[in-house]
Amino acid sequence: MPKKITLLSSFIFLTIQAFCLDDFIFNGFKKPETNLSLSGTARIDKHGILQLTNNTGRLMGHALFPSPIQFKNSEDGPVKSFSTCFVFNIVPEYPRLGGHGLAFTVAPSQDFIKSALPSQYLGLLNATEVGNFSNHLFAVEFDTVQDFEFGDINDNHVGININSLVSNKSAKAAYFSDDLVQQDLNLKSGKTIVAWIEYDSIRNLVNVTLSPSFSKPRLPILSYKLDLSPIFQKSMYIGFSSSTGLLASSHYVLGWSFKTNGDAKVLNFKSLPSLSGHKKRSPVFKILVSVLSVLVVLGSVFLVLYALRKYKNRDIIEEWELEVGPHRFSYQELKKATKGFKESELLGAGGFGKVYKGILPSSKLEVAVKRISNESKQGLREFVSEITTIGKLRHRNLVQLQGWCRLRGDLLLVYDYMPNASLDRFLFEKPIAVLSWEQRFNIIKGVASGLFYLHEGYEQIVIHRDIKASNVLLDGDLNGRVGDFGMAKLYEHGENPTTTRVVGTLGYLAPELPRTGRATTSSDVFAFGTLLLEVVCGRRPIENRAPPEEFVLVDWVWDKWIQGKPFDVVDKKLEGEFDENEVVVVLKLGLMCSNHVAKSRPSMRQVVRYLEGEVGLPGMVRPPGGCYGDGKGGGEGFDDYINSFASSSFDKGSLYSEGAQADGDLSFVSVSASPMSLLLPPSLFMCPLWK
Ligand SMILES: *[C@@H]1O[C@H](CO)[C@@H](O)[C@H](O)[C@H]1NC(C)=O
Ligand SMILES: *[C@@H]1O[C@H](CO)[C@@H](O)[C@H](O)[C@H]1NC(C)=O
Ligand SMILES: *[C@@H]1O[C@H](CO)[C@@H](O)[C@H](O)[C@H]1NC(C)=O
Ligand SMILES: *[C@@H]1O[C@H](CO)[C@@H](O)[C@H](O)[C@H]1NC(C)=O
Ligand SMILES: *[C@@H]1O[C@H](CO)[C@@H](O)[C@H](O)[C@H]1NC(C)=O
Ligand SMILES: *[C@@H]1O[C@H](CO)[C@@H](O)[C@H](O)[C@H]1NC(C)=O
Repeated sequence: MPKKITLLSSFIFLTIQAFCLDDFIFNGFKKPETNLSLSGTARIDKHGILQLTNNTGRLMGHALFPSPIQFKNSEDGPVKSFSTCFVFNIVPEYPRLGGHGLAFTVAPSQDFIKSALPSQYLGLLNATEVGNFSNHLFAVEFDTVQDFEFGDINDNHVGININSLVSNKSAKAAYFSDDLVQQDLNLKSGKTIVAWIEYDSIRNLVNVTLSPSFSKPRLPILSYKLDLSPIFQKSMYIGFSSSTGLLASSHYVLGWSFKTNGDAKVLNFKSLPSLSGHKKRSPVFKILVSVLSVLVVLGSVFLVLYALRKYKNRDIIEEWELEVGPHRFSYQELKKATKGFKESELLGAGGFGKVYKGILPSSKLEVAVKRISNESKQGLREFVSEITTIGKLRHRNLVQLQGWCRLRGDLLLVYDYMPNASLDRFLFEKPIAVLSWEQRFNIIKGVASGLFYLHEGYEQIVIHRDIKASNVLLDGDLNGRVGDFGMAKLYEHGENPTTTRVVGTLGYLAPELPRTGRATTSSDVFAFGTLLLEVVCGRRPIENRAPPEEFVLVDWVWDKWIQGKPFDVVDKKLEGEFDENEVVVVLKLGLMCSNHVAKSRPSMRQVVRYLEGEVGLPGMVRPPGGCYGDGKGGGEGFDDYINSFASSSFDKGSLYSEGAQADGDLSFVSVSASPMSLLLPPSLFMCPLWK
């Protein structure tokens, strides 16, 4: 009798332990036995499949084990060994483009969900939290998008992340076959993948193993020496986090087991639900379906012909539209979001169309909807350029394109809503608010890093071609973001830019552009230089109402610089509140970028390093010369002149003394402009472009 009771109680104890404590197994997630806390778009379907996201953009889905796991016996004790195994499928919207991925997550509470962001943040953190030690977050990411911002190695990798989305260690997705040969594995193939994650608390080792089949390979694909004790708290929540961005995938988990201090139970692969399983049909059914579909097809041909006549309004999807990334919105959705393109929702209007504020009915997200005017000849070309370029770019200093829509002549682009509108509205004429120097410097650094990403961080070189204050947008935290990619051009790295129609805005146009017709990264740098000066001086590059000597901003700054009075040009609205060293750096950089000789301008990579103070600015800056070339060949002579002048009359070394000083010596230029102006043909001092 007592023996029976003991047996019974130990059975109960074991059962409780199996279900409530640190050892559990889910062969599918059929309700009501399973009780995960789901949030966002996560749901469990009737077959017991846990679906974290579907093919819609910018979603997040989380599924956590409802009660915390005791990972330590005391707060500063060591973390127990643990192991987990799970089975997942990633089925992307477009076959080769995943978005964004899923992560096995260990977090101190369920609260991280509230502040997390979708897209490249994988629903784990937000931008300000990235890298903060107090997150106490451990994740193993299965990432299908390469985010340069977080240094991802490719668009198909596994990574171990601590408190950040920058992986401490990552590897391309692969597995070891039985004979220990490494085989590639495509995470976004849509096929079932099994993952094992193990932590050995004695050797402080995290292993991640992948396999396309249910037998566990003998070698992990990722093995990382790491002591989790400072990262884990005594009890932590475990589960899965997943997100989509511009590109979307459906992320599914089919089964999951977990155990501390031992190997996680082996999943019963036969009883797991299967995604493809739903589609299995009997042969008879298949034949019936084929016969029926032939009939249906014939019938629909007539219907379609009829419908085509009737509804010419229907969206026409062309091939390129399928290849580009961002999410396609329905016209009705955008119409509803902008209250029928109501005038009261208008945020602005430009040469190429109007921009409306909208609230997406489904997600309640605030967006800006740009409607490209029907009459605009540039319309379609611009539209395609925008989606194909910006759609694939991802950087915190770019305005993110969320999607698009096309209906007859109406072309619509949907962006993140930027509550603080564009930078020019804070700088010129009657500014809506005066930006402090700190804010201005932050905006400058943001734009520089966005532009650097365009030039060097993406798989192709992206030349923006229209950098100016009105194309720099400010987000809720007044971070600068580069927007309006309507004129952008893409080149392969190493390819020479081809000649095109010269576009851009007067005052930001590099002088060589009208002559060569080749937009290059250094013509973007020129425009960026102008932007720098504008931000410091709080005025437009060409100010009609200014006295003649101040008419052209760069010339005026240059004059004052030579006179040794750089602070005379600083925006009066700052009332003298600024960091003198930073102002000098920005002015000097503005002058360097505004150099008329394209080769002498710094690259964006250098600009970013100067701004971050990683390297000192060169001791001397070349004078920018007179004014823009007149585009009739005069400019050519001018450049040649400058070059020969430089080599004959001056020691070239001193003119280009890159990085000569790093000690904050802000010595002003010693090359006086006057002997040059004496020697220059007078025509070069007239600026026909500005008239
Ligand atoms: C995806 O999920 C969201 C939110 O649950 C829903 O609004 C949307 O209709 C779903 N999309 C598809 C294609 O099922
Ligand atoms: C599921 O978990 C929640 C929260 O942990 C709890 O309130 C609820 O009673 C649980 N339901 C079942 C059926 O176990
Ligand atoms: C990020 O999340 C934290 C809370 O965890 C919050 O205080 C902060 O404001 C969030 N930042 C942004 C930019 O949303
Ligand atoms: C890290 O997060 C904590 C708590 O959210 C916050 O107090 C702290 O300022 C953050 N540290 C950094 C460097 O952002
Ligand atoms: C790696 O992990 C540690 C915590 O153990 C963290 O402090 C560090 O910043 C991480 N390194 C990288 C490159 O992410
Ligand atoms: C982790 O992988 C290493 C080989 O890289 C292996 O020696 C070790 O036993 C593995 N640890 C666990 C817990 O599987």
